[in-house]
Amino acid sequence: MTATLVFGAQWGDEGKGKIIDLLAAEADLIVRFSGGNNAGHTVVVGDKKYALHLIPSGILREGAVNYLGGGVVIDLWHLRQEIQGLRDLGVTVTPGENLFLSQCAHLILPYHREEDRIREELRGSGKIGTTGRGIGPAYQDRASRSGLRMGDLLDPVYLGERLSAVMLEKNRFLRGFGHAGMDPADLLAELLEIAEELRPAICDTGGIVRRALKDEKSRVLFEGAQGLLLDVDLGTYPYVTSTSVATGGLGGGAAVPPQSIQRVLGVAKSYTTRVGEGPFPTELDDQVGEHLREKGREFGTTTGRPRRCGWFDLVAMSYTVEVCGAQELALTKLDVLSGSKSIQVATHYELDGRTYEEFPAGLPGLDRVQVRYEELPGWEEELSDIRKFEDLPSKAQDYIQYLESKLPVRLSLIAVGPDRDQIIRRPS
Ligand code: GDP
Ligand code: IMO
Ligand code: MG
Repeated sequence: MTATLVFGAQWGDEGKGKIIDLLAAEADLIVRFSGGNNAGHTVVVGDKKYALHLIPSGILREGAVNYLGGGVVIDLWHLRQEIQGLRDLGVTVTPGENLFLSQCAHLILPYHREEDRIREELRGSGKIGTTGRGIGPAYQDRASRSGLRMGDLLDPVYLGERLSAVMLEKNRFLRGFGHAGMDPADLLAELLEIAEELRPAICDTGGIVRRALKDEKSRVLFEGAQGLLLDVDLGTYPYVTSTSVATGGLGGGAAVPPQSIQRVLGVAKSYTTRVGEGPFPTELDDQVGEHLREKGREFGTTTGRPRRCGWFDLVAMSYTVEVCGAQELALTKLDVLSGSKSIQVATHYELDGRTYEEFPAGLPGLDRVQVRYEELPGWEEELSDIRKFEDLPSKAQDYIQYLESKLPVRLSLIAVGPDRDQIIRRPS
């Protein structure tokens, strides 16, 4: 058996979808274990562009079976739409055959979306800039034991009782903010209708994945969503999502022993981006940042918001690869750096007379740090047709080798365009 974990090593949108699609060609099971449809992964195959939010990016590979583990939150309205969207593009999605959903996964319900919106409004200038998908409120209900789960859909009587009980409090909250409230009976009817097609898919995904991990021939790929710097414990709290996004969330979220993972691969952009609010030390609030956003088409897959752009940050990257135990990195969007006269890389931060070479997660002044950079020469040549490391311009090779010399990981994959084929493999 081989088991690989792929995680985002920055603030999300690193190009995980593309890398997972690539690795899924050699996987039998693809397992997502955290987050919900706050994620947005674009995978480009020839003239087709797929936007995945909840369904694992392995769905595009025939023969691979995809699982949403118990750590995922599922919005059934969204899932129905995502399945339909994929089918319209000719992708086979058959619940119970190539898509399975954990009975432990919590449901995102319409009142969670409303709650997300209201809470963001209440935060005012301190807003997080959430995706508005109800993610935080759904996980909040999971922790406070007011959540409803996929398995509940298999017992309509129980589901109806739980929904009525939970919605007493939910409606009180909503009405307090001028909302008319929601009817549990209507919600139950809608849930059961949508769940009809999904019934064969609802099962103990953890058991299936654990059996696969015991089977010598199985190849399992764990798909991380978001990025480590958005992790609820390890990221830039409170400007984070509500889950443990990488190794920390894997055990509970997929119901597997974390030590089954042999290969941990982080995905990182050749520069850095962030959507939503929160500290971002290497952010470029100038024409260079604007250039990266335009050339890199840095607009969110989920919300369409412009992404904030900045230079590659070795302080943050050393932290994320270390905390996740990564051995490898896939570096994406190297093509976007073509045409930059010089490239800056953050090597350390300074704040109030102190130097930080390790990422000071949790430091209240993270938004005030002075960033110290090393400058590297850029290159002019476009890279999108290059498939071999040796064919890259020497300055691009130097950039990769420089990052490798500063990080305890191998840069084993280099992406030079959005298409599935635009990849440089660097075998060990
Ligand atoms: P994810 O959430 O980590 O899967 O990343 P997103 O899909 O949200 O954002 C990455 C964007 O960059 C997508 O539009 C990809 O199609 C695109 N992309 C991925 N790799 C590359 C690359 O090497 N070069 C370019 N130009 N685009 C890329
Ligand atoms: P992928 O998987 C980038 C960000 C939001 C916001 C914060 C909290 O595509 O990399 P939430 O809706 O989760 O409560 O929002 O987290 N965020 C992401 N940013 N990529 C993502 O996923 C994200 N998922 C959440 O923008 O700042
Ligand atoms: Mg994304």
